[in-house]
Amino acid sequence: MTWWQGTVGYEIYVRSFADSDGDGFGDLPGIRARLPYLAELGVDLVWITPFYPSPQADHGYDVSDYLGVEPTYGTVDDVTKLVDDAHRLGLRVVVDLVPNHSSSEHPWFVDARSSADARHRDWYVWRDPAPDGGPPNNWVSNFGGPAWTFDEASGQYYMHLFLPEQPDLNWANDEVRAEFVRIIDTWFARGVDGIRIDVAHSLIEDEHFRDNPVIAPYDPTAPPGERFNAFEHLHDQDQDGVLEIYRGWREVAAKHDAMLLGEVYLLETDRLRRYVEERDGLHLAFAFATLHSGWDVDEIRPMLAELVAVGGEHFAWPLGSHDDPRAATRFGGGEVGARRARAYFTLLCALPGVPFLYQGDELGLDDGVLEDDAAQDPVAVRNPGAAGRDPVRTPIPWEPGPGFGFTEGTPWLPFGTNRRDLHTAAAQQGVAGSPLERTRDLLRARRELPALRGGAASRWLTEDGAVVAIERTLPDGGPGGHVVGALHVGGGDGDATPATLELPAAGRLVYASHDGASVAGTVLTLPADTAVIVELSS
Ligand code: NOJ
Ligand code: MG
Repeated sequence: MTWWQGTVGYEIYVRSFADSDGDGFGDLPGIRARLPYLAELGVDLVWITPFYPSPQADHGYDVSDYLGVEPTYGTVDDVTKLVDDAHRLGLRVVVDLVPNHSSSEHPWFVDARSSADARHRDWYVWRDPAPDGGPPNNWVSNFGGPAWTFDEASGQYYMHLFLPEQPDLNWANDEVRAEFVRIIDTWFARGVDGIRIDVAHSLIEDEHFRDNPVIAPYDPTAPPGERFNAFEHLHDQDQDGVLEIYRGWREVAAKHDAMLLGEVYLLETDRLRRYVEERDGLHLAFAFATLHSGWDVDEIRPMLAELVAVGGEHFAWPLGSHDDPRAATRFGGGEVGARRARAYFTLLCALPGVPFLYQGDELGLDDGVLEDDAAQDPVAVRNPGAAGRDPVRTPIPWEPGPGFGFTEGTPWLPFGTNRRDLHTAAAQQGVAGSPLERTRDLLRARRELPALRGGAASRWLTEDGAVVAIERTLPDGGPGGHVVGALHVGGGDGDATPATLELPAAGRLVYASHDGASVAGTVLTLPADTAVIVELSS
């Protein structure tokens, strides 16, 4: 059994978690001071978004030194102290690796663009213009506009699947490959337990740089996501060769008992599965389809069933992320949205694999409501009218007061005007029935039931109706070896009445995401928008 099997993950967006020095930016000492909170919450592994030196064009996903630390966030010594403290508390630490692209201010790119025969020229992707002088092909950036920027000095274009300030590294170059092996080996040697790999499906491109098929009209004024989706991304992502890179990294990780977790943002299960199913590439991949369902049982059931059929133990199941609207907002907002989000997470906690909270999910936070002029995310700043990702990145409200215990200064991004004072960690601490205490209860229940921690078989108990239920059974049985997780997806189709489910054996209610659920013998009664964990007699 690997150390990550059965764990629960927690994403920390470093800028917005906890600011120790009053500059308005979250930082590593801030995180370190809050580690006891995370240990008490009951998560096991913490992924920290990029804290490397960076011009912050994409808030840290534009790295200018892969082995250093941005002074705003701390020092390399702060990382090792944080890791040591985390280990003492029984927590694992996963750092973010951004191998697809560097910052345009990374010394490699500064050198590469200095001349066509520079030492690092081939570390990036350069092509001659098309015959009409335009970009070499029709690829577009995830953040709007062409994926190519013209370099006057050399008369060539360089490729960037994100901002022009994030030039793509050339993974066809062996030196780039060797350099990243050295980078991950160094971080593992510094004690980190794993890496989260940014856009893990995008490192390699078609060697002939063919155009992507156009599948929808391209509207240059549409939000960047829509423009990106006007193409079938046949040639700029998800190329076969990428797995070979992870096979090499897996050997490096094995030396340190470290874990590779991929941000494989491919929503089709058949594409995603390739990254994990041979058990020689990534150890885990995020299953982002979980972030794209509405509050609709006919979306949730088939989506989870398809993924679990691949082998759910290979997946990390995010409730939220710093790139997508918060679950509470997506499921209707306010109290109802928060209640649904917690119910959904309860079911994710009953699946094989690693459920993941995004910071603040445990407080029932919804997206921050921001004034129009507050935009910081380059997606919003550079694409007028696009919502951007700021609302999900507002700082954590730790306690009531002007800086909400997040900062003693001015936060880099406002907290949001929507009643953050009601949703602080301090206000919820020790209050029975609060989102924080309910989330703690859930994670405690998961810890105490071996059937939910790994090795157990899965079987879906319902094929229709508003309840999605999964049975988990350990081959050897024993206490906590037979468990059901069940979610009643109410509301959407107007069905708010409690549902009943016949359980495969008599059960005991271990956890409910909200009041009103009960188990009598083999009958579970489940209110709408609620999920439970039930221990069955074997
Ligand atoms: C995915 C990250 O999660 C996102 O925040 C970032 O903007 C892109 N990759 C580019 O690195
Ligand atoms: Mg700070």
